[in-house]
This record gives sequence, C-alpha cells and structure tokens, in this order.
Amino acid sequence: MCGIVGYIGNNDSKEILLKGLEKLEYRGYDSAGIAVANGEGVHVFKEKGRIAELRKAVDADVFAATGIGHTRWATHGVPSRENSHPHQSQSGRLTLVHNGVIENYDILKREYLQNVPFKSETDTEVIVQLVELFVNEGNTVEEAFRRTLSLLHGSYALALIDDKDPDTIYVAKNKSPLLVGLGKEFNVVASDAMAMLQVTNEYVELMDKEMVIVTKEKVTIKNLDGEIVDRGSYIAELDASDIEKGTYPHYMLKEIDEQPLVMRKIIQNYQGGEGALEIDSDIVAAMKQADRIYIIAAGTSYHAGLVGKQFIERMAKLPVEVHISSEFGYNMPLLSEKPLFIFISQSGETADSRQVLVQVKEMGHPALTITNVPGSTLSREADFTLLLHAGPEIAVASTKAYTAQLAVLAILAEVTAKSRGFDVEFDLVKELGIVASAMESLTDSKEAFEDIAREYLTVTRNCFFIGRGIDFYVGLEGALKLKEISYIQAEGFAGGELKHGTIALIEEGTPVIALATQDYVNLSIRGNVKEVAARGAYPCIISMKGLETDGDRFVLPEVHHLLTPLISVIPLQLISYYAALHRDCDVDKPRNLAKSVTVE
Ligand code: AGP
Repeated sequence: MCGIVGYIGNNDSKEILLKGLEKLEYRGYDSAGIAVANGEGVHVFKEKGRIAELRKAVDADVFAATGIGHTRWATHGVPSRENSHPHQSQSGRLTLVHNGVIENYDILKREYLQNVPFKSETDTEVIVQLVELFVNEGNTVEEAFRRTLSLLHGSYALALIDDKDPDTIYVAKNKSPLLVGLGKEFNVVASDAMAMLQVTNEYVELMDKEMVIVTKEKVTIKNLDGEIVDRGSYIAELDASDIEKGTYPHYMLKEIDEQPLVMRKIIQNYQGGEGALEIDSDIVAAMKQADRIYIIAAGTSYHAGLVGKQFIERMAKLPVEVHISSEFGYNMPLLSEKPLFIFISQSGETADSRQVLVQVKEMGHPALTITNVPGSTLSREADFTLLLHAGPEIAVASTKAYTAQLAVLAILAEVTAKSRGFDVEFDLVKELGIVASAMESLTDSKEAFEDIAREYLTVTRNCFFIGRGIDFYVGLEGALKLKEISYIQAEGFAGGELKHGTIALIEEGTPVIALATQDYVNLSIRGNVKEVAARGAYPCIISMKGLETDGDRFVLPEVHHLLTPLISVIPLQLISYYAALHRDCDVDKPRNLAKSVTVE
C-alpha cells in the first residue's frame, strides 16, 4: 500500500528518490519522506500530503549519494508528519522506511522496548527501535537487522540506512513487493520497477524472508540464516512512455482510451500460428482436469470474475464460483474434489488475494493467476499465469485492466471449451476485433458521457446502477468506479431485486443508470426502470443497438451478446471520470485509496 525507493551511488540521491516516489504515489499518498546520508549525519525530510509538499521541505544544499524514500497509505496512525516515514531510532543513528503491516508490533514494543520513547503511533517505528536495541547489545547492524526480522510477524518491505555507514542500504522483504535495481556504480531499491526506470531497467527479484546488503558496487542477498542466495537479474519490460500521462490530463482518461489498443494487443499475444487463440497447454490441462473453478479476486477484479463465470460456464460448461478474496480466506466453502483456483489481480500484489493463494497451495490445489504484472507475487506463487498485456495501469480506478481481464477470461473459456469438445458458437478473434472497434467509437463519444455526468451527477448525493444478468455485474463495476473517484454514494443492483427493499431509497430525482444489452431480459429491466421512475427516479437507459427504444440515453454499438460487458463498462468509466472532474476530485489519486492494496 506504500511505496519505497532507495539509491546508493555517486550522484546526489535526492532528486532520484523524489522522482521515484512520484512514480509510486499511486501506491499511497497520505504523506511522504526521504532520508539521505553523506557521512555528516542523516538528513530526514518528510511531510503530510503529496510529494509536491515534500519537495518544498527538501534542503537542496544537502548532497548525499545514499538515500531512502517512502510514500504512505496509512495503516497504523493517522496521516501526519509524525507518522510519516522515514522513522529513526532513538539515537538517530538508524533510519527506516517500511511498506506492510507488522501484526505483533505491540507485543514486541511491550516485550523489548518498554523504556524507549516513541515519536509515532506506527508499527514501523518498532522495527527501527528494535534494530538499535540489538546494535546496542553489541551486534553489527546486519546481525541486529536479521535478528529483528526473525521476530516480525506480518508483511514488510524495508530499507534501512546507518549514519555510521552511509555506504550501505539494508533491505528486507516479506509478502510486500520489493525489488533491487542494478546499475553501473550504483544500485537502487523500489517497490515497483516503474519507480526507478529513470536510472535502470535491470532488476533482481526478492523472495519472502530475504534480506539484502546493497552498496553501490554490490548486492548481496541472504536468507534469515545469513546464507548467501544467488539470483540472476531480469530486464523490466517497461517503456518510460508507458508510465507518462503525455497530453492527457489524467492517467485514468489515458487508460480508458488505451482499451481498444489493449484489445488488439491481447488478440495478438494470444493468437497462435494458425490464427486460432492459444494458451499454455498446462493451463488447458488444468482446466480440463478441474470439476469446479473458483475465481478469487477483490474490487474491480472481482467484478471481472463475475463476468468470467458467465464466459466459462456458457462456453466451457464448467461450473464456476466467484469469491471476494478477503471473505474466502476466512470463510472457505466446501470445495469440490478437483478444484482449480483462478486469481484475478491487476497488480498481482493484493494481500487479500495472496493470503488465499497461500492457503490453497498448502492444500495442494492448482492455481492460475490472471494479472497485468509479470513477476508479481501472485504470478510467481501460482502454478500458471495469464498476462493481460494492458501496460502499466497507474490510475487508482481500474479501467483497461478490467476489460483486459474480461478478454483474457473469454479466451481462457473459449480454448477450454474447445479442449473439452464443445463448439463455441462464435469466432472470438473476430468478435474481440469488433469489440475493439466498438470501444473506439465509445471513446470518441466522450462529450455524450460528459453531458450525462453533468445532467445526472452534478448535485446528487447518490446514484444507482441496475441491470439483469451480465448487465448487473457491469452495474456493480460502474458503481465502484463512480464512488471511488467522485465519492458519490453509488450502488449496483440486480434490477429484479430493487422491489425487495432498495427501492425505498428512491426519491425525487434519484439518478438510476440502467443497462439493457441483453435481449432475453430487455423488457424486464425496462420494467424495473418504470418502477423506479414511477417513484421519482431520474432514469438513464444505456442500451444495445437492436434493443433500443425511444428515450434511451445512449445506444451502444452492437457486439456479441456475451461480450457486451467489454463495451457497456466504457460509458460508466467515462461518466464516473467526468462526475469526479466536475466535483474537483483527484481522479487519479482518490482519497483514502491506493492502487495496490498490499495489506489485508
Ligand atoms: C479498482 O478500481 C479498485 N481500485 C480496486 O477495487 C482494485 O480493483 C482492487 O484493489 C483489486 O486490485 P488488483 O486487481 O490489483 O488485485
């Protein structure tokens, strides 16, 4: 949930750290800070708020070739300067940044640090005070760091510097993402390769319960027994332009517009030599062996899973359950004899999903991860991975990753269906191409959706999204988009469910956005619209060409009836974008949120 950077080399580290943090702000932006060491003390600069606030606090006159930085999404302790990272030990000798949650921090505080005055309410400060306690008992910093790590329960990505040894950065990782980047006469540390693409694209993956001694010449990985671990590096396949906004005002708008291109990239990446769609044969075999599929995901990815269930059940005739990660882990249903688990996660780092992956792996069940980030935790720890090829998604509100997830799920369903001897009634390659063109026509109609946002969402305090069948699932996603970036209380409902209680919330002028893309329930959902309109609601019907009637607010270009979610979501993404814009909300970095939720 937070972002960490580190640099050690010959150049001044401040600007490299600040630029890296700016690339990680999507991970959390309650507060930020850097600490730099140059042998004349450790200089700490930290502020509540965005990196821009931190920049004002940094003393440009300090030159230091070693430094660490942090941008925070608060877990323990309110967003404040005192609780912002970096945190220092009592003497000021040691300085630390941390991403994650230490579950036993208060026990450690009581057991080891009862006489230590604490400056913050954070779990992080316990770590740096413990390291100093063990240094004061005569251990080297490395030994003290290792001993501290052995006591920690929970998740952490850590970077520690020592005033007495400014030529070393100590790093450690458990569950939270952290990479070491390699350079010529410098090395870097980052939660995400994007942060340090400015100086290197060569990285080394760190595994759980490893610590690393980083100098400008050398990177030494050790396990918690102190044994050296050899590991090769890899080249991060990221392009600097992928992570820039270019001429766009917001990443979210850029990423909405990228969806047609992503569709075409997915078709290209999954098309085999003969033009048919192909996936790894081991994945096909795993799907064939399964008697039930369990999709595990959070947020938008969970909504994609609900649509994916339709694809897999209708095409491959395999029963599918879809579960919210944070619930499944603590409330596991009775499983079938031969389950296959599919984890959908844009970031591949969602802790709620990862904790389920750990459980199902311990139970010996196969797992497939569908993700946008190669080498992410959920990808590395699953048996199989299918990539989204959507390019980095920076905006907190997921858009292109959602439609990419749907496309990959459709491909998985189609290939599985054929492997199980079922005919698929349509040419998915052709239909996904039609979807890509339909997406283009929608992203070219932004004015229509800005008008809808202005007309329906300028003053309202709530909004309902209704649909039936697959439209209901897209309505859930539309509601999440709207609430997470405009802060309007929005909810998605099954159209037929309204009369069982929720319709009591309908007042004069309540906006109700209805999706009508499915012929078999078209009249039913229009009946639901009439029910709410009769009680004062302000309906907005978005229908599919061929099903439209007078009064519909927008008619979508026709695509295959199973694939309508890939395009019906786009008006909802854009309506939400403009609603947030008109309300002067921070579209890319909404309050209280972060892009990757790496804490449970
Ligand atoms: C999506 O708009 C949200 N920001 C959020 O719900 C997100 O989908 C969820 O946290 C899951 O993230 P993941 O796909 O990276 O696992």
